[in-house]
Amino acid sequence: MTSIAAEHLASKTPIVLDCDPGVDDAMAILYGLRAPEVEIVALGTVWGNIDVDTATVNAVRLLEIGGRPDIPVAKGAGRQLIGTEPTFAELIHGPAGTGSTILPPPSGQHTGEHAVTQMIRLAYERPGELTLVAIGPLTNLGIALATDPGIATRYKEVVIMGGAFLWPGNITPVAEANIWHDPEAARIVLEAPWPVTLVPLDVTEQAQVTGEMLDQLRDTNTPAGTHLHLISYIYLSAYEARFARREAAMHDGLALAIAVDPTLVQEAPLTRVDIELNGAHTRGMTVADLRPIPNLERANARVVLKAEGNRFVRRWFNVLASWD
Ligand code: BDR
Ligand code: CA
Repeated sequence: MTSIAAEHLASKTPIVLDCDPGVDDAMAILYGLRAPEVEIVALGTVWGNIDVDTATVNAVRLLEIGGRPDIPVAKGAGRQLIGTEPTFAELIHGPAGTGSTILPPPSGQHTGEHAVTQMIRLAYERPGELTLVAIGPLTNLGIALATDPGIATRYKEVVIMGGAFLWPGNITPVAEANIWHDPEAARIVLEAPWPVTLVPLDVTEQAQVTGEMLDQLRDTNTPAGTHLHLISYIYLSAYEARFARREAAMHDGLALAIAVDPTLVQEAPLTRVDIELNGAHTRGMTVADLRPIPNLERANARVVLKAEGNRFVRRWFNVLASWD
């Protein structure tokens, strides 16, 4: 077995997962349903890779594929806080967030509660217990904090897939998608007094799932393996066009894995992170104080700069390949 620390295997980490599925979101969610160290308490959906209605349908379907239709899905924000019409990522995730496939609708539905309301309610129902993991734009978190700043002291930790520090952006030369989609919301989240860990492209680009692994998962004939193989074609092809290798980053999976297994983190300075809102060329950039002697008085986040991406990918594969 890979070396997840014993205490993390012994107890499940309860997670509220805010997501925009999305291919790598799907990889994260199915891993989270199966891995013994993860307890997904609830899903909230948000616009981002696709519109929020489609993201919500995909989330409900993933829970059914993973055999956990009992987990609630709450639909959240459909657009960013400020600005014109939202834009989506069809070229990476496909028109419906499921690659080149259009799948039948799931049999279940979202709960009808707003994802923001769910996020606030759970914070009060289980104060100090829950980890909030955000793997889409931060709109729901921003609205939740603006609605009730008290949630910031009631979540145990917030882990965000977002940002690019010593690594280029994936939307602009300096901005990563989840932050770039709603920089104002990201700023609200980083100003709140909760412990934030950012899992940026610097490390998620090192957590690569290969086409071969996805073929092997298909050959397991499990619902999860078949589904992940089916939806990944465009995602892998988009990466292959850029890097000439049939492998693609599991951004969201690594963030979820770090939330439940901090031993994956090798370097994560606590520092000040600001979100650039105004720059003509830099809107959505995450600016960290990484000077040798930073001013820690205003530190607001831990930035994961090195992580054991390969160890996570092996664990992810083993968890999904052993699904019976
Ligand atoms: C992030 O943006 C989305 O496309 C992915 O699902 C991931 O959450 C990577 O920048
Ligand atoms: Ca995502």
